[in-house]
Amino acid sequence: MNAAERPVKIVPKPAQAGEPLVVVEDITKVFDVSPPWLNRVIERKPRTLLRAVDGVSFEIARGETLALVGESGCGKSTVARMMVGLYAPSRGRVAFDGTDLATLGTAAGKPLRSKLQMIFQDPYASLNPRWKVADIIAEPIRVHRLIDGDAAILARVAQLLQHVGLAPADAEKYPHQFSGGQRQRLSIARALASQPTFLVCDEPTSALDVSVQAQVLNLMRDIQRQDGLTYLFISHNLAVVHHVSDRVGVMYLGRIVELADKSTLFSTPRHPYTRMLLDAIPDMQMTGKARTPVAGEVPNPLNPPTGCTFHPRCPLANDRCKAERPVLRRLDDGAQVACHAVEEGRG
Ligand SMILES: Nc1ncnc2c1ncn2[C@@H]1O[C@H](COP(=O)(O)OP(=O)(O)O)[C@@H](O)[C@H]1O
Ligand code: SF4
Ligand SMILES: [Mg+2]
Repeated sequence: MNAAERPVKIVPKPAQAGEPLVVVEDITKVFDVSPPWLNRVIERKPRTLLRAVDGVSFEIARGETLALVGESGCGKSTVARMMVGLYAPSRGRVAFDGTDLATLGTAAGKPLRSKLQMIFQDPYASLNPRWKVADIIAEPIRVHRLIDGDAAILARVAQLLQHVGLAPADAEKYPHQFSGGQRQRLSIARALASQPTFLVCDEPTSALDVSVQAQVLNLMRDIQRQDGLTYLFISHNLAVVHHVSDRVGVMYLGRIVELADKSTLFSTPRHPYTRMLLDAIPDMQMTGKARTPVAGEVPNPLNPPTGCTFHPRCPLANDRCKAERPVLRRLDDGAQVACHAVEEGRG
């Protein structure tokens, strides 16, 4: 056989250590929340569009944890869903290991499906209450045909249960027989069953007692180290974010307003909203600093303020802020901030 006749072997591109695993470019999600068509015609009302996420970009390096933080309604879960292909972006794109997530539903995207997994706030969302734990955890193994034979699958289920701090005998139980923290361990085991490389964790501990939260967060961190996982970790709670993240993006009304290394963000918060959130959390260093509640309310996303959408709550707002929307700018230490006051060096 000469060289021309030899079948061409397609070798997957080797992962480059320096290349980010996840690249998000300018994603936007617009929901049509219009009343039914007939009502609109009768009342002569236009369509109502809600911009839940508006031009968000970031990258996540292999093995890194990027956290997204912000008050309820700022678009965190919508970003999370776009990251695993549950929502298609209205604009922009998400690439995973060099492949566009828009291909997820096609043959080209098939290898990706087992690699991206999501953990939700409410473990019941991913745990079928009528199924035994063994079947719940085995399902992704069967769907992706990762292991053949019932005995081998059961052995893998037992291994996964131990990996998340549960007992192999728990495989015979049903979800309702577990506590909230244990159920979240089960959903982690289920997510790990498909051998993912990227986990999107959407408020995974927000429904748990504080003492249990720390245990589950430590477990997630240990698993990340052992399995070399990459995380997008979403929380409204900066104290939780401090515990788990390498970098932090602060979201406000669908946009990232500050993105920085964890140490930079917590030691030198620049954006007035980041500072407001930091002042509101119980003092982590226990210096006795008073806690200041977050002032004001999140505006209605159907009718966002002009210019900088934070201006009605911002102590540094001026006329420019009301008219001109600030864009993310990179500072000397690598932090990115979208704020006119920071750019102008005031405040
Ligand atoms: N499926 C949907 N249809 C219409 N509006 C939605 C939908 N999902 C979220 N929203 C709206 O988008 C905004 C962002 O929501 P979400 O991403 O859930 O924020 P977060 O997770 O930060 O609380 C909110 O105003 C919410 O009401
Ligand atoms: S741009 Fe203006 S209103 Fe917005 S955060 Fe900065 S100072 Fe405040
Ligand atoms: Mg949410």
